[in-house]
Amino acid sequence: MVFHVLTLFPQMVKDALSYSILKRAMDRGKIEINCIDIRDFSSGKHGQVDDAPYGGGAGMVMMAPPIYGAWLAAKALAEPDAKVVYMSPRGRMFTQRVAEEFCRRESLILLCGHYEGVDQRALDAMDADEVSVGDYVLTGGEIAAMAVIDAVARLIPGVLGKCESYQHESFSDGLLEHPQYTRPPVFLDMPVPEVLLSGHHKNIAAWRREKSLEQTAKTRPELLLPDVQFLAKGSEPGKAAEKREESAHSKRRVNMKGIITVLGNDQVGIIAKVCTYLSNEGINILDISQTIVQGYFHMMMIVDITNSMQGFEGCVEDLRLIGEDIGVQIKLQHEDIFNSMHRI
Ligand code: ADE
Repeated sequence: MVFHVLTLFPQMVKDALSYSILKRAMDRGKIEINCIDIRDFSSGKHGQVDDAPYGGGAGMVMMAPPIYGAWLAAKALAEPDAKVVYMSPRGRMFTQRVAEEFCRRESLILLCGHYEGVDQRALDAMDADEVSVGDYVLTGGEIAAMAVIDAVARLIPGVLGKCESYQHESFSDGLLEHPQYTRPPVFLDMPVPEVLLSGHHKNIAAWRREKSLEQTAKTRPELLLPDVQFLAKGSEPGKAAEKREESAHSKRRVNMKGIITVLGNDQVGIIAKVCTYLSNEGINILDISQTIVQGYFHMMMIVDITNSMQGFEGCVEDLRLIGEDIGVQIKLQHEDIFNSMHRI
């Protein structure tokens, strides 16, 4: 795959990408980085590439003609419908899914902006896809483009070696990665979790799944929405869905929402236990918030129990027992209680 980078700082991009895995990928011909200096396409005597914005305002805007010239040069080397990606904080978010979408292409043309932005006409002429690497503003698009190149390149077959597999990493299955351990077995009095030394592959996989769920719920709960039930360990999507359908049909439930509260001393595994139960039970998490105040763990979830296999009362009891088991208080209440309390 060829990455054509339209930039004012070609050396910066070339240098930063010539290390480690990307360097090896270039040496093996898996990827090519072709930097095109936008300044080479300036028509001014002093290589001018920016000017004051029409309508006034602070800063400078990158001029359309040099960018357009650099794009034509890249296009001449790329396939006719090569995509242009403009690195910009106002673009759509760059995620693992977008990286997967990009890595299927033969080439990408990445435009790195600077100053207060780029003349809109250049972007329109190139039909640029605006992409942001996060909700913060960098000094220029180069660092963002390098992040995109890195994330896309490592998905190209043959770029990662056997030891650098991406099968089980964060986002590969919609969850964040579980913690990893290596030698020594004890470090600063902290032993490696026993299950990882057991050699029992099923238990290790289950433990990792649980830790992934727990990590995701803790730091990025929005990734668990809206379909957490198919993510948990041991769930058989086909069967569970069938059963839910049957159950929902026979009990004629309509959009039943519940509120789960969990309160107790903070400890490892609370979120994983609750999420795993909900997912196996076919209960969808609609919203989640979690805090730890002076060592006390508090979580509130809005859940859709319409398709629960147990029915509401069964779930109330199951969750209460799970809470007892791990030493926290877990309550499931019907949303109607809150609505009628409000009316009273
Ligand atoms: N250029 C400046 N900030 C950026 C961001 N957050 N993402 C992509 N390009 C940028």
